[in-house]
Amino acid sequence: MFKSKARSVRLQIPEGMPVPQHVAVIMDGNGRWATVRGLPRMAGHHAGMGAMRDVIRAADDVGVKFLTMYAFSTENWKRPRQEIQYLWQLLEEFFLRDIKELIERNVVIRFIGDTTHLPLASQKTIERAKEMTCSNTGMVVQFALNYGSRLEIVEAIKAIAKRVESGELSPDDIDDSVLSSHLSTAGIPDPDLLIRTSGDQRISNFLLWQIAYAELYFCDKLWPEFHREDFLAALESYGRRERRFGGLK
Ligand code: IPE
Ligand code: IPE
Ligand code: MG
Repeated sequence: MFKSKARSVRLQIPEGMPVPQHVAVIMDGNGRWATVRGLPRMAGHHAGMGAMRDVIRAADDVGVKFLTMYAFSTENWKRPRQEIQYLWQLLEEFFLRDIKELIERNVVIRFIGDTTHLPLASQKTIERAKEMTCSNTGMVVQFALNYGSRLEIVEAIKAIAKRVESGELSPDDIDDSVLSSHLSTAGIPDPDLLIRTSGDQRISNFLLWQIAYAELYFCDKLWPEFHREDFLAALESYGRRERRFGGLK
């Protein structure tokens, strides 16, 4: 069922255009989307869940292999308790409702960030989602929950320092692949394309190490109004760019 849909959608990206292997998304603007409509911020988060569903489907349909969605940062704990609680509730709702489709799509679900600080029910939900999809072989979707890139890098450095202290590793052996292998994204290729919605052009502590050579795509649309066609527009923009990685054409 999904296969035939995949073929028709794939036609929306020009033939031969390179599809990024890994797309990372900063889903921003839920609160503003609600505020301009006179709604509580929670309504924006709820609508944002629909956009997330759309983007996951579109990414899978066009053949993206890895998709990383920034859902909650280590700095988002500064928000009102009620808003935070609602976000965890939404997360549970999302997995309850969408897990079946994600399994059918052969999606592998992963999480990055320190999920031990989430409410127990949310931790159980995400464990279940991980377990239920761990033997799948399709697109990998990573949800960044209580994720902060600086914290991730600090933790990696601590782990490397311990290995040096124990004599297992020499300081001269430390290179970028050693650091990469101690991050929560170990084994996942770096993002080729980073999308941020809502008009703000900043990274907000997301994958700082991993996006060294990512193409950046900023979009004015607020996250709840970012749908399949907007995602495909981002992919088309990516497809037209020339990546040089410091070399020459
Ligand atoms: C992104 O939307 C979702 C999260 C950070 C959880 P925001 O909630 O940041 O929305 P704005 O930026 O306030 O509009
Ligand atoms: C980034 O959005 C985090 C997520 C989308 C989860 P924020 O809304 O938290 O970022 P700032 O505060 O505008 O930088
Ligand atoms: Mg925001």
